[in-house]
Amino acid sequence: MEKQSHSIQDILLENFKASIYSHFYEKDGYYALYHSLYMNLLYVKKDAFDVFCKIKSGVRTREIINSHKYINKEAVIDTIKLLYENNLIVNSSDKESILNKENLSNISIDIQIMYLILTDKCNLNCKYCFIENAIDNNHLHESMSIDNLKKSVDLFDKLSLDNKENRTIILYGGEPLLNKDTLKKGICYIRESLKDVKINLITNATEISREDAAFFRDYSIDVSISIDGLESINDSARVFLNNKGCFKNIIKGYNNLKLEKVPNIGASITLGSHNIVNLKKNIEQLIKYFDFNSIGFNFLVDFTSVHLKKEIVL
Ligand SMILES: C[S@@+](CC[C@H](N)C(=O)[O-])C[C@H]1O[C@@H](n2cnc3c(N)ncnc32)[C@H](O)[C@@H]1O
Ligand code: SF4
Repeated sequence: MEKQSHSIQDILLENFKASIYSHFYEKDGYYALYHSLYMNLLYVKKDAFDVFCKIKSGVRTREIINSHKYINKEAVIDTIKLLYENNLIVNSSDKESILNKENLSNISIDIQIMYLILTDKCNLNCKYCFIENAIDNNHLHESMSIDNLKKSVDLFDKLSLDNKENRTIILYGGEPLLNKDTLKKGICYIRESLKDVKINLITNATEISREDAAFFRDYSIDVSISIDGLESINDSARVFLNNKGCFKNIIKGYNNLKLEKVPNIGASITLGSHNIVNLKKNIEQLIKYFDFNSIGFNFLVDFTSVHLKKEIVL
């Protein structure tokens, strides 16, 4: 969205409020501010975060800038501008109506792929996982309810305008099979309400029973198994909470899928230092051992490095 540029004079006259879509997260003295619809992320230090909190709690702009707390007034103004440019704060009169849920269907965007995060729980603790490793010890895990899944599917249907036959829903997590009830009811709902949509389940495969496999076959689910190589390579990264590798458990899930004749079983390989050396040989071994219909790759995103995109020091 095009933002008006605000002069210092404007900023002094204007009053802002936090966007209803702004969220924040603190870690080690840094603060991540996040807009959940535009998906932009801004990392700031405490003083800048305090400015955001003051705006959020309704303190007027002029009062914030004139506060004795801040010696460097220009930096406060720059912070306000930056928050505004990133849509994290909006004019106090802004109803953000274009973004309100009821108006979302009027926005002309054509969405073809939807990820459903069935749960943020997982039975594994893969060493590189950007989801599980980003979760704090005191985090309360959440799982998607069937009502929310249905609402998401209905919204996806409204927002996918063209090429309805090319749509894909990706069932993702955490480990999606740890929310089996919603997963299965959700699959039934998707098949009842959307025509021609592809459904792709991305799973660590350790929880797939024979009954689950038969269900996936009956509902034409493409299953992608995350696996990084044969046992020693896979188990150097993909481990349970007790650090035990999961390769043998993958085999059980894979065998259940094969026994129930699930037609599309793919491998999803995450590339990192554990399998990139001799990659060709590793993949050849994997192809020999398993009968995968397809192989996809994820390039490792280093979850440990939180880079400061923009740092503000007041
Ligand atoms: C986050 S998991 C969720 C689904 C399921 N638990 C699984 O492992 O398939 C989905 C995929 O993301 C990959 N992944 C996890 N952490 C990653 C990272 N830091 N960079 C790139 N891919 C990653 C996993 O290997 C897996 O293939
Ligand atoms: S199984 Fe998937 S969600 Fe769980 S830790 Fe491994 S990559 Fe992350």
